[in-house]
Amino acid sequence: MPLVTTTEMFRKAYEGGYAIGAFNVNNMEIIQGITEAAKEENAPLILQVSAGARKYAKHVYLMKLVEAAIEDTGLPIALHLDHGDSFELCRDCIDGGFSSVMIDGSKYSFEENIALTKQVVDYAHAKGIVVEGELGKLAGIEDAVNVSDADAQFTNPAEVEEFVARTGVDSLAIAIGTSHGAYKFKPGQKPQLRFDILEEVQRRLPNFPIVLHGASSVMPEYVEIVNKFGGQMPNAIGVPEDMLRKAATMAVCKINIDSDLRLAMTASIRQHMAEHPDHFDPRQYLKPARENIKAVVKHKLVNVLGCAGKA
Ligand code: G3H
Ligand code: 13P
Ligand code: ZN
Repeated sequence: MPLVTTTEMFRKAYEGGYAIGAFNVNNMEIIQGITEAAKEENAPLILQVSAGARKYAKHVYLMKLVEAAIEDTGLPIALHLDHGDSFELCRDCIDGGFSSVMIDGSKYSFEENIALTKQVVDYAHAKGIVVEGELGKLAGIEDAVNVSDADAQFTNPAEVEEFVARTGVDSLAIAIGTSHGAYKFKPGQKPQLRFDILEEVQRRLPNFPIVLHGASSVMPEYVEIVNKFGGQMPNAIGVPEDMLRKAATMAVCKINIDSDLRLAMTASIRQHMAEHPDHFDPRQYLKPARENIKAVVKHKLVNVLGCAGKA
């Protein structure tokens, strides 16, 4: 089976009241951990690559690894560019075989965002590729995504119909209180998402797939292991999983998870190194790290996204 687009996945997810997991990938162990979990749970899957990941691993390596995962699992898998920041980057990924791209024009004005997004949509649709746009800004700090708390700006529901109509995007990422990275809420602050905004967006865009970025729950059991074995991640806090589950039953059809995978991998490696100071073969610590990724993804597919058995 070749790579698929997200069109059919999102249609079924919307109707079925679940969401597809979009997991960030950077290397072989991460791809294997995710896809083995999805295979065992028979779940549809989106693997996504950031500009930073593409620079780190090279386009061709990630492409071939994902092709290998499709051959190995037989699952419907979409390969998606995460946070594309220019027409040229989106074009390179489309020409290079991706089945979906995100153009993130959220840092621009409404009109500039529309113009850039439409340019990408025109190019992508001519080649059968789907496009995710973004309206509203997420708080948080990530390599390629820097928006301070003060600049955080929830999506204005009054703008979504015009944005979708004028750009032709296939899905829309919105800002309702999630943020990238492992520090999503201030210490002592009660995690909250603006479900009222999501409801209003859903009302204005019937049957249209919505995307939630910054959706790691920063699983406390892994934070604890990291901190126990020499790491320093005090106050790491994510989005409570019951909120993600609720969003998945609504218009949210794609839930982006990266930090939880980073955390699970780092926790495993820290623990392994501390318990086996004599080990120096990377396979000795990458194997359990890959197992941790698999366990986290299984948990998300079954208990959070609700997409197990839907491939
Ligand atoms: O939203 C961003 C993703 O977590 C990717 O992060 O740019 O460090 O690869 P990255
Ligand atoms: P997290 O940092 O919460 O995993 O979000 C990832 C993301 O939104 C990738 O686009
Ligand atoms: Zn994101």
